[in-house]
Amino acid sequence: MKKAERIVVTSGKGGVGKTTIVANVGAQIAKGGEKVCLVDADIGLRNLDIVLGLENKIVYTIMDVINGFADVEKVLIRHPRMKNLYLLPASQIATKEMVDPSDFSRVVDELSEDFDYIIIDSPAGIERGFKNSIMVAEKAIVVVNPELPSITDADRVMGILEAEGLQSHGIKVIINRIKLNLLKNGKLLGREEIENALSSDVIGMIPDSDDVILSVNEGVPVVFNGNLKVSKVFENIVNRMKGERIPIEEDLKIFEREGIFYRFVSFLSKRRR
Ligand SMILES: Nc1ncnc2c1ncn2[C@@H]1O[C@H](COP(=O)(O)OP(=O)(O)OP(=O)(O)O)[C@@H](O)[C@H]1O
Ligand SMILES: [Mg+2]
Repeated sequence: MKKAERIVVTSGKGGVGKTTIVANVGAQIAKGGEKVCLVDADIGLRNLDIVLGLENKIVYTIMDVINGFADVEKVLIRHPRMKNLYLLPASQIATKEMVDPSDFSRVVDELSEDFDYIIIDSPAGIERGFKNSIMVAEKAIVVVNPELPSITDADRVMGILEAEGLQSHGIKVIINRIKLNLLKNGKLLGREEIENALSSDVIGMIPDSDDVILSVNEGVPVVFNGNLKVSKVFENIVNRMKGERIPIEEDLKIFEREGIFYRFVSFLSKRRR
């Protein structure tokens, strides 16, 4: 009998990239062969299904499991391109208040027996849906954007996570939507400042990326195309989650050699060879 590792992806401020990160981290783990279930806890405002390109496959939702209308196996959607990646969809018509914490935790317990990883996409805010999703998790990823309001709200969430019994070493931070030009000019909060403010380790730095925006619109997580630079960041994140010691600087190094100046210099140096 399997006992899944349960990870909640959460944030203080909304719209920072939780759903995008759940889809890509989940798909990247599944690429390695492990069985992954993504749980959309954003009842009423679901969109993990869209990011995964599965919105047309939803017949039943988590509400049907909770209300006893369908078994969880029947509700799960298997990704057609990645057979060990599954989604437990949220209902569009229910509200978060309709999900009792004990019901949510019963469903996640049942899933735990059949999966290696359960990754929960927490809704924005710190109300019922957020509470339900952190209660069932043993680890958390807190997503921030490198902006002050995002960090102060994340700090508040960190406090709630610890009060709910999550071990501080099980709480990690991902900095998302980093504008590389601002970072280079020292105009953004840096990794060390964010780590100090949140007393937590950063396990990933993801740039603001057109590829991510396009992939969300197409319903194909970026990691499905391993050649994209941003996919390499998700690869690093998942390897770090598994204990590999990859320096965090590696995430952005991949993007350094992108500017027109570099292309010009490398063009000249190729001609000289
Ligand atoms: N690294 C990135 N580069 C560019 N765009 C991104 C990146 N990450 C996320 N986005 C975009 O930001 C928007 C919000 O992302 P997402 O829905 O994942 O955030 P969220 O935290 O789940 O939001 P909510 O709190 O509403 O659930 C989306 O349009 C997504 O395409
Ligand atoms: Mg979301």
